[in-house]
Amino acid sequence: MTLCETDAAAIAAAAQALRRGALVAFPTETVYGLGADAHDGRAVAALFAAKARPRFNPLIVHVPDSAAVAQIGVLPAVGRRLAAAFWPGPLTLIIARGERCAIADLATAGLATVAVRVPAHPIAHALLTAFGGPVVAPSANRSGHVSPTTAAHVAADLGASVAAILDGGPTPIGVESTVVDVSAGEPVVLRLGAVTRSALARVLGHPLAIGGATGRPASPGMAARHYAPAAPLRLNAAAVEPGEALLAFGTPLPHAGPMVNLSARADPVEAAANLYAALRALERSGAPRIAAMPIPDEGLGEAINDRLRRAAAAP
Ligand code: TXA
Ligand code: MG
Repeated sequence: MTLCETDAAAIAAAAQALRRGALVAFPTETVYGLGADAHDGRAVAALFAAKARPRFNPLIVHVPDSAAVAQIGVLPAVGRRLAAAFWPGPLTLIIARGERCAIADLATAGLATVAVRVPAHPIAHALLTAFGGPVVAPSANRSGHVSPTTAAHVAADLGASVAAILDGGPTPIGVESTVVDVSAGEPVVLRLGAVTRSALARVLGHPLAIGGATGRPASPGMAARHYAPAAPLRLNAAAVEPGEALLAFGTPLPHAGPMVNLSARADPVEAAANLYAALRALERSGAPRIAAMPIPDEGLGEAINDRLRRAAAAP
């Protein structure tokens, strides 16, 4: 994707808004992010307030390239290997906070570690380059709600709080970045996401542990209930019950009410791209409940199932 004249002007204006402490939403290859100047504690506080996000849940710092990570902390050898393989792209690395790191304490929830990512989306890259500093960006939704994959989703959740929404159309991947903690010893996956576990294992030569199993705390943000539509969600449905809308995968179950098919050809990559828009559409359909068909737990299916389990968790 190349940026046209108006896009360049919009990006310059958005960078200027970040400089004055305002919030700017922008597309990444995963989901839309809600950006703030990572060095500006007041801007970061406004970001937490806009999302109604618990302050113990730290943010991801976005930078335009791996060289910019040097201002934040040091990538250990295993982090450099992962960065070389997946950046720019949908991988977030947790590293130890460097001594000269000027990221606002609120952004890291006071932790000694910081989450960093180099997004691949051209609009995100252009904004980070124009701004010239690190930008914190959680997904641009109300805390706990379904993540946004279009500019309209951002406007629906946060419209009044953002100075600008850079509209890059639907985000290509549709689920969040994979979060890998490389801050101490063996790398640990803290959040399943767009980079599959098999892709990580191919690069490192062995499978990675999943957070929690090693005694290290999982991501503070991995609450049991998250990514949730307003209507209750029932997983692994073998039949659709009266009053239920259907979230289908492959050949739809017989049903009477509203239906969105994540992928008629049962492709997990297509299903990930459609997941959050589908949940929002079924929420808007007014159906009192949603039944989801099973999705094989392979490739991106793992991240999709992780999100569906959290979306279905009891409030
Ligand atoms: O794809 C993405 O990662 C999107 C786009 C906008 O970049 N961002 C995103 O941010 O999903 P957010 O805030 O919704 O999720 C960030 C996750 C949370 O689970 C948070 O707890 C975790 O990263 N995290 C951030 N800093 C951390 C740290 N120092 N240690 C452990 N987990 C951390
Ligand atoms: Mg989020």
